[in-house]
Amino acid sequence: MATTGTGTRQSSSDRKVQARRVGFEDALAEVPRHFAADGDLLLSHMGAALSAMFPEGEEFFIRTVRHYRDQITDPVLRRQVAGFIGQETTHGREHRVLNDRLAELGYVTKRVERATGRLLRLRERVASPQSNLAETVALEHLTATLAERLLSDPDARASLGHPAIRSLFLWHALEESEHKAVAFDVYRAVGGSERVRILTMKVVRYGFMGGLFAGTILSSLTDPASLRPGVLPRSLARFVRHTVFSRRVWNDLKAAEKPGFHPDDRDNEALVVMWREELFGPEGELRDSVAGTVI
Ligand SMILES: [Fe+2]
Ligand SMILES: [Fe+2]
Repeated sequence: MATTGTGTRQSSSDRKVQARRVGFEDALAEVPRHFAADGDLLLSHMGAALSAMFPEGEEFFIRTVRHYRDQITDPVLRRQVAGFIGQETTHGREHRVLNDRLAELGYVTKRVERATGRLLRLRERVASPQSNLAETVALEHLTATLAERLLSDPDARASLGHPAIRSLFLWHALEESEHKAVAFDVYRAVGGSERVRILTMKVVRYGFMGGLFAGTILSSLTDPASLRPGVLPRSLARFVRHTVFSRRVWNDLKAAEKPGFHPDDRDNEALVVMWREELFGPEGELRDSVAGTVI
């Protein structure tokens, strides 16, 4: 239980990390080419670019955490690691389904998926297990930051457009928020260096955001819709104002570069409880997508 100046609160470090057996396959088969709000070109390509990176990214996260699993003695953290692995496995699987659908529609998602996998496997060969775990910790802070924006900002949710895309990203965002401290706590438990963690976070902040921006533009240039007069400039004006590229997100990412930072410094428990109910409670909108819980 984390303690604050005003008393004791539940933190994500005490949280039960539960892998839900969800499936969106039928709904994702209905996704149209420009699925984002108002059929927006760049917002659709940004969603596709994010999804394309997820499956291989999630598998990398699992490998880097699993490497240290035997060194974890705390039973709570051990259970959270099992939940983390279950959640990330399901995220990867469902995003592969979306990526297959988007590839059918002409997106380069499968090529990006393969390139991400090659890059991450190369990283694992040349860098130490600690450095690879630091990469996971940094990327987990990034996904938790984006997840929190999505869960708390109605405009960000509306920008996703098609209901199947919205459901997939909301479920993913909830679980990223639920397990946001797990890789971090493993890193700390095995004596990971604070200097390496901070440096890696800085590289990820610039590298990922720059890569997402450039990757989205490049992906859109493979789309015949970008040649229609006025479409690209109009979409670009909307894209640069999207919350992903806001100062707020940038500063939230930067917050992890302070020595002594912990993901629970940001208390998102109320948000998690609300969305768990909203999505998977008795009246939850995704209740029917769940075939059970894995852990
Ligand atoms: Fe994930
Ligand atoms: Fe994650």
